[in-house]
Amino acid sequence: MRDPSAQIKQVKGIFSRVAPVYDLLNHVLSLGEDIRWRRFVARALRLGPTGRVLDVATGTGDLALAVAKRPERPLVVGLDLTPAMLGPARRKCAASGARVALLAGDGTLLPFADQSFDAVTCAFGVRNIPDRRQAMAEMGRVLVPGGRVYILEFTTPQSAWVRRVYLRYLRHLLPRVGGLISGDEASYRYLAETIMEFPSPAEFRGEMAAAGLIAARSHALTAGVAWVHVAERPLANIPR
Ligand SMILES: C[S@@+](CC[C@H](N)C(=O)[O-])C[C@H]1O[C@@H](n2cnc3c(N)ncnc32)[C@H](O)[C@@H]1O
Repeated sequence: MRDPSAQIKQVKGIFSRVAPVYDLLNHVLSLGEDIRWRRFVARALRLGPTGRVLDVATGTGDLALAVAKRPERPLVVGLDLTPAMLGPARRKCAASGARVALLAGDGTLLPFADQSFDAVTCAFGVRNIPDRRQAMAEMGRVLVPGGRVYILEFTTPQSAWVRRVYLRYLRHLLPRVGGLISGDEASYRYLAETIMEFPSPAEFRGEMAAAGLIAARSHALTAGVAWVHVAERPLANIPR
């Protein structure tokens, strides 16, 4: 069991250190699949009356940018705990001319009024937030009724042989390659551990329900290495 405040400090430290090489490492370690995964979420996303989307734990902004490039041109707000990650995001958003607003903040305490967004996205972020339930409750609070949360996250695949290969990759290859490129093997060992500790899709849907979201479903990508979990804010408030 990790100590939540120590974990928040550790996460901020890790992403501050890896920020300059984060994008490169993402593409190398996923063999470019991460681009396809974010594009899948951006296309699947349902817009609504506000024309606004919130990307929690936006990091270097790739999902926020993919959403902002949709033909409807929604305004995307990207929020992240680690200011260093927002540096590359700012440069990419300025270069693209997309409608993205970036700000530093904590996903468990969103600085937005209730019902401000049509959709909330979060790619590879919830795994790093100790109080996931609070983060998802906050996502629900800022959504319009019937609005959807889209969470893209890794988990260990369910098929036995894919799982075996993937666990070897997580334990050995990921920390080494991550360490080689970033000079920080310990950070990539930690990130691999958080993937191995992440709940199964069914367990995670249970967590979404416990946070007040309904109609949760999951969609597997790339042999179940990554999953998109989708759930909704109820049309009427359900007493908890
Ligand atoms: C693996 S990166 C994902 C970045 C980006 N969404 C992507 O698709 O590449 C995880 C991000 O979560 C952010 N993060 C961790 N805890 C957070 C929190 N409590 N609130 C907001 N962001 C958080 C980190 O700073 C980091 O940028």
